[in-house]
Amino acid sequence: MTNYKIRRFNPETDIEAVQLVNSICLPENYPRFFFLEIANKFPEGFNVAELEGFGDIAGYEMTRIERGLSNYGFGICKKGHIISIAVMDKYRRLKIAEKLMDAAHKALRLRDVREVYLEVRESNQAALNLYQKLGYQQHKISKHYYTDGESAIIMISKI
Ligand SMILES: CC(C)(COP(=O)(O)OP(=O)(O)OC[C@H]1O[C@@H](n2cnc3c(N)ncnc32)[C@H](O)[C@@H]1OP(=O)(O)O)[C@@H](O)C(=O)NCCC(=O)NCCS
Repeated sequence: MTNYKIRRFNPETDIEAVQLVNSICLPENYPRFFFLEIANKFPEGFNVAELEGFGDIAGYEMTRIERGLSNYGFGICKKGHIISIAVMDKYRRLKIAEKLMDAAHKALRLRDVREVYLEVRESNQAALNLYQKLGYQQHKISKHYYTDGESAIIMISKI
């Protein structure tokens, strides 16, 4: 049985572990300062899954608050943007991503954010299923969004 807890990212102690998970799990990697800037601007929106007993980081999600035109007709408003989420292969299908997404949504609601969006590769069926399960809907396709030419599906949800 794998026990884990979802907690806020700690920039002092978690940055290397999160960068490692990111580099192993995703082709979209970012410099250290980018992670720290996201954490600094919206600390509650950056969460990790810590394995109990070991203290290892099994996954993370990071979220930003932006201003933009509502996808739901609310005019210019605050929007949550799930920038990145990943869970190490060994710890997948344990609802870690679901719980990380819940944490992000909760943090956004506490900042009066009522809608959220994200990009996902067209081929990423696991992630598409995850977001659909959480109520996200396909909004539009961003052609050749990724540097390797793959298109992104932009998914949106009210939260
Ligand atoms: C996508 C990812 C974050 C899911 O993490 P996870 O912790 O394994 O997901 P969960 O256990 O919370 O799964 C929740 C739901 O997502 C869907 N899902 C997750 N993995 C899936 C898979 N391999 N195949 C099909 N559906 C999947 C299912 O609907 C699942 O619900 P269920 O278990 O009741 O069927 C993980 O596979 C990952 O890190 N992938 C690489 C990085 C990535 O693609 N990030 C997203 C970028 S947009």
